[in-house]
Amino acid sequence: MKLFIDTAHLEEIREANAWGILDGVTTNPTHVSKTGRPAKELYEEICRTVDGPVSLETIAVDAEGIVEEARRLAAMADNVVVKVPIMREGLKAVKRLAAEGVKTNVTVTFSPLQALLAAKCGATYVSPFVGRLDAVGQVGMDVVRQIRTIYGNYGFSTQIIVAAVRHPIHVLEAALAGADVCTMFFDVMKQLYEHPLTDVAVKLFLEDWKRVPQDKLT
Ligand code: E4P
Repeated sequence: MKLFIDTAHLEEIREANAWGILDGVTTNPTHVSKTGRPAKELYEEICRTVDGPVSLETIAVDAEGIVEEARRLAAMADNVVVKVPIMREGLKAVKRLAAEGVKTNVTVTFSPLQALLAAKCGATYVSPFVGRLDAVGQVGMDVVRQIRTIYGNYGFSTQIIVAAVRHPIHVLEAALAGADVCTMFFDVMKQLYEHPLTDVAVKLFLEDWKRVPQDKLT
């Protein structure tokens, strides 16, 4: 499963990239607004920072406007994926963009049937928002599992990005459900490394090493 970081903060992207496990970036208008930076220069810098796909979201609400915006975004760098909200106009645009070879990420998806429509329109990725579903009492990961089954049944190549992830258990469940990608905040990504037993073991080994007669090994 690929790991994307869900942020527009360059410092977080650079640090996660340096860890060697980062496969891509997802941004959204909320993330961009938190940086206080103009979108174009920020997007160009993010795309230069990572090799993998970078999702940049469209703001237009009509198909024509989305297609025009998507073309401008896609022209910015080779690794741009255009993020399009799942609405009728959005899917009309995705269909046209797929025909032009523009990669898309169909976002704010909350049901398996929406994901079926996204795949039929040729979306490269679909992003079910699991944390937001959990928050309203629906098991978000059930939607991911249903999408996996539907895509398997019909051989759709659209990749599933598990999004709106709140904690490491979401990442684990995404991997067990066979999601292609999981996108998460920097803090959740950091938590993937952590285990109290690892800390205890490393501390003990370092203590024990002090009792080993020292030569030129280390
Ligand atoms: C994913 O691509 C979205 O940017 C993100 O996960 C949005 O979800 P949230 O705002 O509920 O965290």
